[in-house]
Amino acid sequence: MINFILNEQDISTDLPSGTTVLDLVRYQQNLKGTKIGCREGDCGACTTMVGELIDGEVRYRTMTSCLMPIANAAGKHIVTVEGINPSDGGLTPVQQAMVDSSGTQCGFCTVGFVMSLTGFCVDGTAKTPDMAVSAIDGNICRCTGYKSIERAACSISEQLAISGQPETYTPAAILSSAIEKKMVPAYFGNIKTRLQTIKGQTEAFDSAVSGAVFVGGGTDLYVQRHDAMAEAAAANLFDNGELRGVRDSGTHVEIGGSATVTDLLESPLMNAIFPDLYKHLKLVSSTPIRNMATLAGNFINASPIGDMTVWFLALDAKITLGTQAPSPAPSQSDGNNARTIPLRDLYLGYKQLAKSPDEYISSIRFRKPAGDFRFNFEKVCKRTYLDIATVNTAISLTVKSTPGEGWVPPALSEPGAISTGPMVMHKIESAHVAAGGVGPIPLYLLKTSEFLVGKTVSEDTISQANEIMHSEISPISDVRGTESYKRLLLKQLFQAHFVEIFGI
Ligand code: FES
Ligand code: FES
Repeated sequence: MINFILNEQDISTDLPSGTTVLDLVRYQQNLKGTKIGCREGDCGACTTMVGELIDGEVRYRTMTSCLMPIANAAGKHIVTVEGINPSDGGLTPVQQAMVDSSGTQCGFCTVGFVMSLTGFCVDGTAKTPDMAVSAIDGNICRCTGYKSIERAACSISEQLAISGQPETYTPAAILSSAIEKKMVPAYFGNIKTRLQTIKGQTEAFDSAVSGAVFVGGGTDLYVQRHDAMAEAAAANLFDNGELRGVRDSGTHVEIGGSATVTDLLESPLMNAIFPDLYKHLKLVSSTPIRNMATLAGNFINASPIGDMTVWFLALDAKITLGTQAPSPAPSQSDGNNARTIPLRDLYLGYKQLAKSPDEYISSIRFRKPAGDFRFNFEKVCKRTYLDIATVNTAISLTVKSTPGEGWVPPALSEPGAISTGPMVMHKIESAHVAAGGVGPIPLYLLKTSEFLVGKTVSEDTISQANEIMHSEISPISDVRGTESYKRLLLKQLFQAHFVEIFGI
């Protein structure tokens, strides 16, 4: 039996745990406000808000209900548009802003926008106009026009402005402010207490262990096998506390296999190591998908253009594979015959993995950077956001910089600029380069990486590395570009790494 709260109502269901939240909402609960568009996580018509208890407070994130099994709803608060509508029949400030700004879309799309913007009202992001606009990056259609919807989003962010710095916003403070401003109804104030009494999370996990399909975020599995999964038992890996989180082990960063891209974005540790984390990761899918998709899922998908795979290959990450579903109780989960391998060794050929079907990725780890660490991620796709890459690449370097020698004056990269700063020579002490879309698997570019070690950063070094890199790749012509186009793209993106990192 899976227990959760849907809007104000307690739900207890024995439907197959692989049933999607979308199907339960529409066909079991007859709540037709949530629409079906693509069933692939692309259109945003099915967007719902999902609240879960984290460290004793309810944290809300938007998710696409078409890709979410009810196994992953256990113990949570699922909110559809019916759950935010004011009881007096009026409009919420978000709905009113869409009307006032002439931002309403068709009957399929408007609801998704409203849910995304309402999710923004109660999530942990800074309440700025930019973040409000980013919150609707998973709602793809703009039939009415971009600007009217953006005006609605900006209006919401203005209404949400609360005193204090973003880092002082707590989930409780954000939620109580949203309730006070009537962005969400007053019953949201009782959800924390109600969730604390629901045991569905554990029950759903237990019921799914025997013979069930492992499901992380579901964002890939449900696109590929929607019909089969609808009848299946789903083993919920998403909510196991051991498989979540980003931890500092002293020498390494340890990340649970079910950590999401949003978990990385919200991690102080990751932000401290990667100053451009948001700039890079906002290129990965959309807000609702980043809220659901797990790192392990991205790795196991084995797509040659998996963004997070390329990202972690460039950190020379290792993965730990377990063979037995871990217990919800942390102390009982060891001894799963776990083995640890470099991520780069996971890929044998196109969609061929060095793992058995009953193995899952329990954790990912990479060495904490020491010294002068530089990282960059580049991606080219047909549109900037919510698209898969044609080619992507990432690089991590540690360098030793010596003032007064060589040349890499960043100011000189600006046309007409005159550098008054000291000359600096950067010697590369370690290097890891990865690329996607240029072979049958996501590639760790071993020869290129090895070549860079010990070299001084210069145009000549980049040029020689580029030649080596081209001997390591084997792109094919397909719908996303010709072989020569992809080679050219990677060459340019490789150069872009150095422009971004050194200004060269
Ligand atoms: Fe399109 Fe779910 S139906 S994102
Ligand atoms: Fe719905 Fe464009 S398809 S507004």
